[in-house]
Amino acid sequence: MSKINIINHSLIKHSLSVLRNKNTSTEMFRRHTATVSQILIIEVLNNISIKEIVVETPLDSAQGHKVQESIVLIPVLRAGISMLFSAQNFLPWASVGFIGLERDEKTAKAREYYQNIPQNLREKYVLILDPMLATGGSIVDTITAVKQKNPKVINAVCIVGAPEGIERLKKEHADVDLYIAAIDSHLDENKFIVPGLGDFGDRYFGT
Ligand code: PRP
Ligand code: URA
Repeated sequence: MSKINIINHSLIKHSLSVLRNKNTSTEMFRRHTATVSQILIIEVLNNISIKEIVVETPLDSAQGHKVQESIVLIPVLRAGISMLFSAQNFLPWASVGFIGLERDEKTAKAREYYQNIPQNLREKYVLILDPMLATGGSIVDTITAVKQKNPKVINAVCIVGAPEGIERLKKEHADVDLYIAAIDSHLDENKFIVPGLGDFGDRYFGT
């Protein structure tokens, strides 16, 4: 069963409140998205495997560590790009794949318009980045596409989710763990997360 990890960091709580505020400027929205994303990514990466190495300091040999995983970041366009910047701060060597999905405004169903994911993900540790998990359609379709390339591990990182989307993820991809800042109350009639923070992509990109 999917493990749902809600990251209750005080700085996340602070920044998430700025993101929720309808009067927050684009500049502040971007700044606080970066803070929340960085903390989430630090948390998810706390589980990756590392190997022991020996390093030479200017004075002596020391026991050290090196990340062993070969990581692939997959932001869900467009909004997932906002989290990619933060992930790349910690993982400048990671490969990046893209999937473009857009929800139909009437049906709320996701339509794929772009895909460029590395062909072979065997032995790869995949992190899917998408700030909003509403009906779950986008993340479920993304995971389905990624699984066709046979990765070793898939984790999903989101900022705000709705119970409906979480249930769908658990049902359709029980082997994927989720790291998330908050799970809100419900979806409204337009399938927007309530209280949520509105249309993430529009607020982040200033459109
Ligand atoms: C948003 C968000 C997710 C999706 C979540 O993207 O970034 O990808 O909605 O909704 P779901 O769980 O019901 O599928 P949107 O389709 O608005 O596109 P955008 O990222 O280009 O703004
Ligand atoms: N996408 C968003 O950007 N916000 C929501 O509340 C739901 C989907």
